[in-house]
Amino acid sequence: MSKSCCETPRNRPWLWLLFGGAAAIVIAVFIGATRTTSVSAPSDPLVVELEGSYASASRPDGQLRTFAITAAPAQLIKPDGAPLEVWAYNGQVPGPTLRVRIGDTVRIEFKNELPQPTTIHFHGVRVPNAMDGVPGVTQPAVPPGGSFVYEFPAVDAGTFWFHPHVRSSEQVERGLYGVLVVEDDSPPAFTRELVWVVDDWKLAEDGQIAEPFNTRHDLAHDGRWGNVVTTNGSRAPTFPARPGERIRVRIVNVANGRVFKLDFGKVRAEGIAFDALYARESFDPSAMDLAPGNRMDVDLVIPRGGSVEISDRFTRTTHPVAVFEVGGDPVATPTFASPAAATVPHWKDALSTPLTKELPLNAQRGGAFGIAWMIDGVAMQHTAHDHAAHTSFTLSRGRFHRLSFVNESGRLHPMHLHGTFFKVIARNGQPADEPFFRDTVLVRPRERVDIGLVPHDVGTWMMHCHILEHAESGMMTLFAVE
Ligand code: C2O
Ligand code: CU
Repeated sequence: MSKSCCETPRNRPWLWLLFGGAAAIVIAVFIGATRTTSVSAPSDPLVVELEGSYASASRPDGQLRTFAITAAPAQLIKPDGAPLEVWAYNGQVPGPTLRVRIGDTVRIEFKNELPQPTTIHFHGVRVPNAMDGVPGVTQPAVPPGGSFVYEFPAVDAGTFWFHPHVRSSEQVERGLYGVLVVEDDSPPAFTRELVWVVDDWKLAEDGQIAEPFNTRHDLAHDGRWGNVVTTNGSRAPTFPARPGERIRVRIVNVANGRVFKLDFGKVRAEGIAFDALYARESFDPSAMDLAPGNRMDVDLVIPRGGSVEISDRFTRTTHPVAVFEVGGDPVATPTFASPAAATVPHWKDALSTPLTKELPLNAQRGGAFGIAWMIDGVAMQHTAHDHAAHTSFTLSRGRFHRLSFVNESGRLHPMHLHGTFFKVIARNGQPADEPFFRDTVLVRPRERVDIGLVPHDVGTWMMHCHILEHAESGMMTLFAVE
């Protein structure tokens, strides 16, 4: 287009005569302007540095993988034989682990048999905007008895999960969550793989899920923390293992509010992926805060000599999370280079880029629950259908942006962005270079966390605190990518 517009005056010399000198000046200016834009704008080194990290567009070249998922009330039998009333995907808590391969197209035929409207959101997955499961924004909520088909390409390999985005503080707590594993093209040769869904239940004296939800106490603190810490639905389950096994464990924190910090004891443990994508180099998994929404893949080698316990030490009370019951003949430990060798930008000078948006995090009295959590002074309700009014900022596709979470409160806020990965570039003004991308970052009391991102996918996306009680009371907002 720029070519034809620039050549026209040269090919038609009569124009010069017709319009005279003044026109010549206008055209000359026009040509100059056109030439400037036809040469691509000087490339932003931060965007250039991102190249090769993860796909900028989807190229579905695999199979169509169809899964039927129904959300419905169900009864589980606890290890002590007592029944537990839950809401479940396909009758199980955790829900099913869906496994596909990168490049596959995932199709979810979803049915809602709950007494409430719901949706499914695929946490961390870069889906087309219409498949994001945000009620009133990307789709109407699915009513009781209704259905919806979600379909999206698996663009990135890694550990993801899915959960409702309607009344999530209640629906997730009642048991609605499942895992989505997107396998690599050629998965590393681990002896085997485990998925650990870590959670906590808050059970009442009758042994059932305590009601009500969204209590003032939970709102005023870090959400709802349970009294029973579970892995895959039971307390510190045991996994038989043989010495020498090299196991990939995909850990997913689906709790409403609880943060985990895992101690791997004498197991050699290396973090290889965080929030889905592989890291640039392996990291110490026991140094990581695993906040609600976060995932972490660890590369474990089972030692000789008895059982080992993995425990949570985020709080002063240690909770056992899982036990490897080590026995049997040793096996040869597979030797392969750590898959933590991904391209991840350093974004060294990112903190000096102009700030796109500062996002103060705070609360005020009032609202439906007595306390309303806010992002940038606004508490958003899913029930408000004026979502355009909640679009608090706009990002340009393919450009680098810096956002700054400023926690003005004394509580924890794991901040999550839909539709994109980001990288932490500073904490409290000190440049940080985590060797991985994230989709959720824990912002501690009074902390300031700067993140950098280059959004690829156009749409209206959600950003919210993943402490579900905070989100429910308003700690959500929308941003547009154009
Ligand atoms: Cu798991 Cu809107 O998020
Ligand atoms: Cu929060």
